[in-house]
Amino acid sequence: MKKKNIIVVGLQWGDEGKGKIVDLLAKDADIIARYQGGNNAGHTVVNGDLSLVFRLVPSGILNDKKICILGNGVVIDPAVLFEELDALKNIGIGIKDRFFISYKSHIIMPYHKRLDIARERLRGAGMIGTTGRGIGPTYEDKVARLGIRAIDLLDRNLLYAKIVLSLKEKNYLFKNVLGENIFNPDDLIEEYLVYGEKMKEFLIDSSAFINEKINDGFNIMLEGAQGTFLDVDHGTYPYVTSSNTVSGSALSGVGLGPTNIDEVIGITKAYTTRVGEGSFPTELKGGKGDLIRDKGEEFGSVTGRPRRCGWFDVNLIKEAKRLNGATGMAVTKLDVLSGLKKINICTGYMLKGSFIDHLPYSHADYSETVPVYQEMSGWEGNISDIKSLKDLPVNSQKYIFKIEELTGLPINIVSIGKERNQTIILKSILREG
Ligand code: IMP
Repeated sequence: MKKKNIIVVGLQWGDEGKGKIVDLLAKDADIIARYQGGNNAGHTVVNGDLSLVFRLVPSGILNDKKICILGNGVVIDPAVLFEELDALKNIGIGIKDRFFISYKSHIIMPYHKRLDIARERLRGAGMIGTTGRGIGPTYEDKVARLGIRAIDLLDRNLLYAKIVLSLKEKNYLFKNVLGENIFNPDDLIEEYLVYGEKMKEFLIDSSAFINEKINDGFNIMLEGAQGTFLDVDHGTYPYVTSSNTVSGSALSGVGLGPTNIDEVIGITKAYTTRVGEGSFPTELKGGKGDLIRDKGEEFGSVTGRPRRCGWFDVNLIKEAKRLNGATGMAVTKLDVLSGLKKINICTGYMLKGSFIDHLPYSHADYSETVPVYQEMSGWEGNISDIKSLKDLPVNSQKYIFKIEELTGLPINIVSIGKERNQTIILKSILREG
């Protein structure tokens, strides 16, 4: 039986419940790697009384047989990293020889965070609603060839020179444009050398490591953070994150070629949510939106911000299917919709008098889109402990099959509660022959 290599991506605006699904699929993967983003992500995994939020470390780390990697495409805040590693130690999870970081990954520095927050303030009403974790400015420095890579933390002279170079423009901005305090490289260098010393044992060439392991018969799951429509190229620009979140980026984000991938699994909620600013055609303001937020506990796991909630949007998922080359789908939080008399599925939009079955091309058009809905009948009762699809209320089955039909994406998994066992597997993913 061939062990498959898969990519798991969010099909919406993030927070699709990837943590739980990745945790579930991790049992059949030897290696779990993240390829982009940083601690703007937040994966919650619930196991019995234990509820853990991972912002950086792949959630597969809870399984002590697995190798977990932060690839070169990830940006790392060392303070957050060591906080998470300490938390794992405190609950008895060992990471020796099974947690690694690409030496090429970029480091989030305190000036990136300050820049992120000050820029948002400068934007005023046009703010992106970033997580304020310094993600954007860190990727900017990477592309501007000013970034600090994990390996640089091991070399005092190099690190110092790089900090000085990076601060040349930034200190000017802080002082003269943003009205912020400037940074002195001497105040940063010691702290970051200590991080380097602590990080040293984890540093690898993720590309060489992963390719070698695959040749030895190991399989890999590449775990996306955020979601398709936060992708810097394909998302609802400019209200996006600063990395490519789609599956194509998984490969460059760890150093793997496309011929190694067997499946791309997309995760979607049974409805839609978004945090931060930006367009959201099926958003429900008040009423049912509030109901879904409360019942689904839709508050950001990183920032605690209330998530905006709305109906399931077929346009999003069809486009995400294409952008990611998705081969299957996991639908999460179906249980949250229980008790609603009527549930809408958005099948397309009206824009300037015409029906469109894709996302608007210009951001300016979003405010004019009017969703077209297909109304479905709801179902009653708590469905979280049901074990098979055929035992779900008939209307919830109809809802699931309608989503599958309209998106054209086969459903592999339906999640009906937070716990690992509150999951219905329709088709296995990682171990088919
Ligand atoms: P940044 O990634 O902090 O620069 O934020 C850019 C946008 O992406 C904001 O709208 C954030 O709310 C959103 N975002 C970033 N990470 C996540 C995530 O993990 N889930 C959902 N939204 C996110």
